[in-house]
This record gives sequence, C-alpha cells and structure tokens, in this order.
Amino acid sequence: MPKPRPLRIGMLGMGTVGTGVAVLLQNSAHILSHRAGRELQLVKVLVKNPSKTRDTPIHGFKLASSVEDITRDPDIDVVVEVVGGTGWAFDAMAQALANGKDVVTANKAVLATRGGELFDFARSHGRCVAFEASVGGGIPIIGAIQRGLSANRILGIQGILNGTCNYILTRMTDDHLDYPTALKGAQDLGFAEADPTLDVNGTDAAHKLAVLAHLAMDTTLGVDSISRRGIDELDPLDIRFAGELGYTIRLLAEIWCDPDGIISHVSPVLLRKTTPLAQVRGGFNAVRVIGDAVGETLFYGAGAGRMPTASAVVSDLVELASSRDGFMAATSRLWRDSPSPPLLPQDKLRSRYYLRLHVLDRPGVMAEVSGVLASHSISIASVIQHETIDQPNISQVQMVIMTHLAPAGKFLDAVRSLDSLGCVLAKAVHYPVGE
Ligand code: NDP
Ligand code: HSE
Repeated sequence: MPKPRPLRIGMLGMGTVGTGVAVLLQNSAHILSHRAGRELQLVKVLVKNPSKTRDTPIHGFKLASSVEDITRDPDIDVVVEVVGGTGWAFDAMAQALANGKDVVTANKAVLATRGGELFDFARSHGRCVAFEASVGGGIPIIGAIQRGLSANRILGIQGILNGTCNYILTRMTDDHLDYPTALKGAQDLGFAEADPTLDVNGTDAAHKLAVLAHLAMDTTLGVDSISRRGIDELDPLDIRFAGELGYTIRLLAEIWCDPDGIISHVSPVLLRKTTPLAQVRGGFNAVRVIGDAVGETLFYGAGAGRMPTASAVVSDLVELASSRDGFMAATSRLWRDSPSPPLLPQDKLRSRYYLRLHVLDRPGVMAEVSGVLASHSISIASVIQHETIDQPNISQVQMVIMTHLAPAGKFLDAVRSLDSLGCVLAKAVHYPVGE
C-alpha cells in the first residue's frame, strides 16, 4: 500500500502556544502519525520578529516571509493560527480558507466576536475551522460539549475559564502576594494574553463563555451583552474577609437557562472553601456543565500555558488528519443566524451577596444599614465587624454582611441607597456568593 500523504501544516505565530505545538509535533511525531494514520509535518512558520532569540530549539520547518507565503502555498493543507487578536488574525484565517486550507485556531476572541463571519467564510469555501484550544486550555471541553454531551439539553455552565485570574487569585489568597507581583507571575508562565487587561477585566472569560454558550445552548451572545466584572479592582481586604467567613474568591463565568430565557455573567464570586471550584488553584480551569439527561459533570485541567494548550491544538490536527468529516459537519452548523433564546436582564439573577461597607464607628450605624436592607426586603445572614480598640483614634470600621438569597435588582437598589447614607464613607463593595 502506498504511504498516505502527510498532513502539511503552516503555522501563524510561534509564541507560547505555537512553540508548544512545534515541540509536540517534533517530539511526539511517531505516536501522532500512528493515531492520525499519516504524518503531521510542520512545513512553515510565520513570526513577527524572525531575529528574536527563541528559548526552544525546533527544527525541520521553514520561516515564512509573509502571511501569503503560508496561506497561498499549494503544498499546505491546514493553517494553525496562534497569533491572537481579532483583526490581523481574522484576515489571515479568511485568506487561508479562501485558498483552500482548513484552519485550526486557539483564538477565542475571534470566535466570540467574529464567529459568524469566520464560519460563513469557511462554509462558502468548503473548508472547516477547529478550535479545541480556544476554551479551557488543555481541557477537551469543546469536544465534550459537541460530542460527548450532544444528547443533552444543557441547563447551565459554570466555569473558571481564565488561568491568569485563577493564578493571581490563588497567589494573592494562599501566598499573600500583591496583585502586580501575582500578575507578573502569570505572565512569566505564559498564561496571560498579549494585553493582560483582557484577562483581568473579565473579557477573556466572557469570550470563552460566549463560545461555550454557542455550542451548548445554540445562542449567539454578543460579548458586550454578558455582564462582566474582573479581578482588577479586587481589594485584598475582601480576599481576607471572605477567608474568615469560610469562602474563597474565584472569577466565575456562568450561563443558566431559565424557562423565560438565559442569564449570563462573569464576576468574582465567593465560593465555600469546600466546593470543587473553590479548590481549583493556579493556572487550572474547571467547567461544570449540567445537562438534562446526564446531570452534573465537571471538567478540570490546565487552563493555559504552552504544552496544555498545544495538546488541544495538536489533537485537532490529529483528528483533521484522520478525517475532516466531524469538523466539516460542525462548521456547517455553527455560527449560523439562528434564533437565540432571549437574554434576561441581570436583575433577574438571584444570589446571596457579600457586602462590605466602610462606615463610621458610632451608635446607630448598624441600625441604619440594616434598616436600608430591610426596606429593600434583603435579609441579613451574618455580620462581622472587628473592634478597633487597639486603634483608639480610628472611628471608622469595615462592616461585612452576608445576605440571604435576594434578586440582583433589589440588592443593587439597596446598595445605591446605602452609598447615599452619611455614615457610609466609601462606595459599597459587593460580590455574589456562589451556591
Ligand atoms: P504569544 O504572544 O506568546 O505569541 C504570539 C505569536 O504571534 C508570536 O510568535 C508573534 O511573533 C506572532 N505574531 C504576533 N503578531 C504577528 C504578526 N503581525 N505577524 C506574524 N506573527 C505575529 O501568544 P500566545 O501563544 O500566548 O497566544 C496565541 C493565541 O492562543 C491567542 O489567540 C491566545 O488567546 C490563544 N491562547 C493562548 C493560551 C496561553 O496559555 N497562552 C491558551 C489558549 C489560547 P514573535 O514570536 O516574533 O513575537
Ligand atoms: N489568557 C488565557 C488565560 C489563556 O489566562 O486563561 C488561555 O486561554
């Protein structure tokens, strides 16, 4: 039998993820070709700065002189896009598809903001787009939702979807690092986006949530329609108070199906220390998916970084090399104009809340605060306020209140009223408390 033709790969970008892909293709060539039924050959790579010193020696491919040198090369079958961003990367992928190449990408920003355009483009050129690495790093969550859970109506997804934020929160909580030092650590480990603002302000998690929501709930969420708060304004004081109360703060991305529509948000959330998501540490991610038939499922693994993300990219390449059928079927179905369930406003969310008030330490303050909460039908579950007897000149305290379950709309109205009280010295700080 003649040897099957290798799958010839061109790669755009060789930074954190691209280097991992090249290493894996080089070091695991034998096992990959055995599984794919043919060789996977990295033929050409495009980088921005070819003279940059690279930390990992990889051989056997040519450096491309331009994006067209890859997208128009008739010998290349598939283009891996691991550059990032939504402009240049989109144009490069469109060019590859137009020139008859399939595309494998790790780019959740493009999928979440321009998925419709990209998939229309792929369909019109009879090519496919694979994107396992776009959510959850090394966790095969895309395949799990598309194939393993396809018999289910997905009722909810709750996930730690950003490795950078989870690393920062873990180091600030467990090792008492300050925020800039923890962020630098995440960048050094290759977890952060080129612009880490996207990580810490919740945008990257919102991009990933939009991708998962599309796959799981057939809904195309505009990223701006996902209410989001990041960890960039988190005060270490709240990490400390949460700890005292038996909670850990994690950045959660959630989407829930309600009979009237869907509700989604990205926010720091207090989780009981004993819950599985609270125990996800460092650059790890976890995704809880609830299906009507399967019930609860939980996926856990490295959510960012060189080799875990390369694992997802190369798995797409192996599958593509053995058969394009699955990816072609998915590409024909995804990001088409289809009716989405209505998006419910945030005030429909019901949650318990953590509320921290910086207040004057004088008689009657507790009564004023609890009066405002009661007037909005918010019930208090517990209160902590530390004595300041060791600092007799300080007549201000932090009052921390945990509420019972309340609708977000009522809670936020109560917060606005509290902010206007004379005894409240700074804007109230509040976070939802997870179940
Ligand atoms: P890096 O910043 O580490 O690497 C980007 C690569 O793209 C570099 O090799 C850079 O070249 C190259 N590049 C940038 N601009 C251009 C350009 N205009 N023309 C040609 N090449 C260019 O990014 P990552 O590897 O971290 O991320 C890549 C993608 O993977 C992003 O979409 C990211 O969101 C996604 N992703 C990242 C994960 C991670 O853990 N890092 C995890 C999951 C997804 P040069 O080397 O010369 O600078
Ligand atoms: N910047 C992303 C993160 C990379 O920290 O999770 C993985 O998508």
